[in-house]
Amino acid sequence: MKYKLAIFVALLALVYTRDYCRVYSCGTVDDSDDLEYCAQRDNNDFGNWNVQQCVGENMFCKTFASKAPGALQYPARCEEIKPEVYQKTFTASLGTGVDGDYCESYKDCHRSYYSKGVCQDNVCKVPTREGSKCKVNIDCPMEHFCNSKSRCTEARKAGQNCTKEIECETGHSCLRLVEHDKDENICIPHNYLDDGVLFAFADTGYFREEKTDLLEAKQLKPIFSPYCESINHVQLGKNLFQCRKADTNLNSDLSRKSKGNNCIIQTYTNEDPQKYDVLINKTERSLCGFNKDNRAWCPLKAGDKMAQYFYFNWVDRMNSFKCSRFTQNDPESGSICHDYYVAMQNKDEDLFSYYKFQATVVNEDSAQVWANTANNNKCVAQSLTLDFWNGHYATFEEYTYSK
Ligand SMILES: *[C@@H]1O[C@H](CO)[C@@H](O)[C@H](O)[C@H]1NC(C)=O
Ligand SMILES: *[C@@H]1O[C@H](CO)[C@@H](O)[C@H](O)[C@H]1NC(C)=O
Repeated sequence: MKYKLAIFVALLALVYTRDYCRVYSCGTVDDSDDLEYCAQRDNNDFGNWNVQQCVGENMFCKTFASKAPGALQYPARCEEIKPEVYQKTFTASLGTGVDGDYCESYKDCHRSYYSKGVCQDNVCKVPTREGSKCKVNIDCPMEHFCNSKSRCTEARKAGQNCTKEIECETGHSCLRLVEHDKDENICIPHNYLDDGVLFAFADTGYFREEKTDLLEAKQLKPIFSPYCESINHVQLGKNLFQCRKADTNLNSDLSRKSKGNNCIIQTYTNEDPQKYDVLINKTERSLCGFNKDNRAWCPLKAGDKMAQYFYFNWVDRMNSFKCSRFTQNDPESGSICHDYYVAMQNKDEDLFSYYKFQATVVNEDSAQVWANTANNNKCVAQSLTLDFWNGHYATFEEYTYSK
């Protein structure tokens, strides 16, 4: 009797630890009685869930953002979810537009004693030139700043010295390369520094208060970095950073037969700066999502091909715009770069890829968001996982990653 019980308990345990993921297929969901259900367990196969797209504009299946499928209540209902990201509207007449910003009338552009911006073809144009008198940076044209002698000065190019971030051209930062020039700060293009390079920020005043705190602590965990070619750095001390290879999945196929600690991540977190490229293997969990099959997904890492694609796709797009480094790029603030605003209104996929990168790699919930949105069926992408993407479900095909 005892043995039988033991075997029974063992079997039960086996059943419950068999961590296969559920399958989410496109199927018919019983939505009679006007309940508008959109996801339901299949009556013939309990491991399978049927998903049906909701009817009506902005009607989507509520999934409570980044929660794992197991945490959700089913049957799920259709609800109105207004997409956020591309819904911000331009606030006119604030007079905050800088050179190159979007405008509808001269009232949208920055005007001061020295610089009276005009609006031409929906672009703010600043009348000042190199050498013009100025009081603030935005009195000056694009790729210029207002120097200590109150004159508009051409921004410094890559490799030129600088004292402040704002003196460098757009897409560059004023950094000190610790091992090279002891006291010299130079303008360095983003995504430029090689692995192993030690650097410090010349101008910590440029960062907002909460960011300055970040300059204090040592952090050997990988940090997303726009300065390094590998888009990753670690922090070795107070205002001391080193570019390191970004974390990568050892196996480029991120799907697993079952969920669990079955992903090997290659990370570069040695404390010794000399050993910057010494690889450490660590294990991470794969997670279930709303997937086509019953496979689980390893977390997407910044060094993985897809993450790199998301990020650099966005970088290339941003580099194709003519924007001032002083734009706030926020339509509600009344200051948004014209080219960026137009792309935003056209729901430009390349712009959106930064959002994908953030959501699936950088944010705290990214592993779950990735697992939830990789390898979705179309009906799932258009209903269940829609709120992860703020209404941008059209990207699901490109987003499906297999092998
Ligand atoms: C940058 O270098 C130039 C030429 O060497 C020098 O005249 C200038 O003072 C330097 N500027 C700064 C901010 O160090
Ligand atoms: C990391 O794991 C892989 C696969 O198990 C192995 O081939 C490699 O030698 C390991 N590297 C280190 C540094 O442990």
